[in-house]
Amino acid sequence: MITVIANLKGGSGKSTVAFNLGIWLETRGQPVVLYDLDPQCTLLDVAEIRREEGITPPLQVYSDKESLARHLSYHPGEVLVDVGAASIESMKEAIGIASRVLVPVPPSQPDVWATQRFLALVDEAVGSRTKSRPELLAFVNRADTHHAVRESDETEEALRMLPGITVLPQRLYQRTIYRRSMSEGLAVFELWKGSKAASEFDAFASALYPDIGKPRKARSRGD
Ligand SMILES: Nc1ncnc2c1ncn2[C@@H]1O[C@H](COP(=O)(O)OP(=O)(O)OP(=O)(O)O)[C@@H](O)[C@H]1O
Ligand SMILES: [Mg+2]
Repeated sequence: MITVIANLKGGSGKSTVAFNLGIWLETRGQPVVLYDLDPQCTLLDVAEIRREEGITPPLQVYSDKESLARHLSYHPGEVLVDVGAASIESMKEAIGIASRVLVPVPPSQPDVWATQRFLALVDEAVGSRTKSRPELLAFVNRADTHHAVRESDETEEALRMLPGITVLPQRLYQRTIYRRSMSEGLAVFELWKGSKAASEFDAFASALYPDIGKPRKARSRGD
């Protein structure tokens, strides 16, 4: 299945989510390839850190759009595509072949507005095809951890009003470990197993891939 992780706003967590999902799938023995179609190449960089540090499982990341089409014909597992607004054409192309589009939305009104505009872009990318229209899944990323702060609930409510998009109830909360783990080439659940971020991410990924079971092996730095 091809899952494209996209939206129009920068910094909403696309690359962070793509990276952690990639490792989550790999640790469950699920063959996965990642496509980094953003000129910033965040996924390529983090995969390179893993390689240099000898962290297993390695992450297979491509940045070549041409090979995306080639891979689709034989890749037996999951494909994750990270696209940024820096390349709208790549974004549309990826959405055009996606089985589903995952949309991380930080808790703010401008992010809801941007998501609304993003839906118009999806319409453009998909055109009049109704049968092969990708499933659209939004979720709140960087949700407030304090229950008295209402923005995450309000954002979720506003997203539910948008047509044609499903809102996942599983949120990812604002946790410093996302930034720290990625700088070390690690997923949050690799850096700190049992952390809140790790269990939240597991619940989120399990909702996206309900048929995929428990992890097969722990991470190791090459010895
Ligand atoms: N749930 C989270 N909690 C805390 N920090 C987060 C979370 N998700 C992402 N971040 C941080 O937010 C910043 C932006 O994330 P990321 O680079 O994944 O966004 P992006 O959508 O790929 O950005 P761009 O549009 O520039 O490609 C990074 O510093 C990342 O560590
Ligand atoms: Mg990015």
